[in-house]
Amino acid sequence: MQPAAAQAGAHARPVLEIAGLTAHIAGQQVVEDVSFSVPATGITALLGRNGVGKTSTIKAVIGLISRTGSVTLDGERIDKEPTFKIIRRGVGYVPEDREVFSKLTVAENLRLAERDASPRRQLVEELFPDLLKRASQMAGTLSGGQQQMVSLARALLNENKLLLIDEPTKGLAPKIVQEVAETLERAAETVPILLVEQNLQVVRQLAAGAVVLSGGRVVHTTNSALEFLDNEDLTQRLLGVHADAGHGEDADAGHGENAETGHGEAAAPANTQTNRNGAQK
Ligand SMILES: Nc1ncnc2c1ncn2[C@@H]1O[C@H](COP(=O)(O)OP(=O)(O)O)[C@@H](O)[C@H]1O
Ligand SMILES: [Mg+2]
Repeated sequence: MQPAAAQAGAHARPVLEIAGLTAHIAGQQVVEDVSFSVPATGITALLGRNGVGKTSTIKAVIGLISRTGSVTLDGERIDKEPTFKIIRRGVGYVPEDREVFSKLTVAENLRLAERDASPRRQLVEELFPDLLKRASQMAGTLSGGQQQMVSLARALLNENKLLLIDEPTKGLAPKIVQEVAETLERAAETVPILLVEQNLQVVRQLAAGAVVLSGGRVVHTTNSALEFLDNEDLTQRLLGVHADAGHGEDADAGHGENAETGHGEAAAPANTQTNRNGAQK
């Protein structure tokens, strides 16, 4: 249970608590006994190399793939609930590939996403002025960055307890990455976010705490993403990169999910915890 206690804001109740979460896809265990919590404010990063189970963890939380274990949203168990009920409870999901309706206009995409009686149109207009100008444009003709903005706007229209955002900057040009990051930063002032992000410069800029997965398991939890990123030993071992400031390196750069290259005793900062047993497959 140590990861939950180690999270920032442990004094306030976390918005999401995951304990012993396990999930399978096509008979393969892709999430294995995952436990961590997401504080009720700010951005928590979910990190790890390609294929370690980040997307599967998010999908398991909202019941898109069947799972066992406990998931508690704002103090209430949701792990036995179907996806639509979890979403109605106030969980916004921004999937990995944006998933806008390409043959609908920007305005239509947004209108379709309105779930609440009084959607937060004003907030969305403030955060996404460019989308206002493009209201009648077909979403399929937008750039990748603009489509990402539509996808984020759809989630922000409703009052959510938590947003789950999967790789929002993937495949975007550096300038657009920065725009998305700034939007996320402002969005996080209104709702806590669990963010899967491979661009470590973005993580550095946005994340308070971080949870690192490897082989479907939690291998590291910290309430200081910065300290984690500054620890070359750890980032090299768990992500396969040196996460130096100013380089914006991509965790995808290292392939293969066996980040653990031995039993070197990296000195972890006091507020971080690396689970070496969990790191073994
Ligand atoms: N639809 C699927 N069918 C079969 N295997 C899948 C499917 N989706 C994911 N997997 C496998 O599950 C594991 C975790 O994948 P995923 O959660 O997408 O990782 P990440 O998001 O960290 O890159 C990988 O080994 C991947 O190959
Ligand atoms: Mg993924």
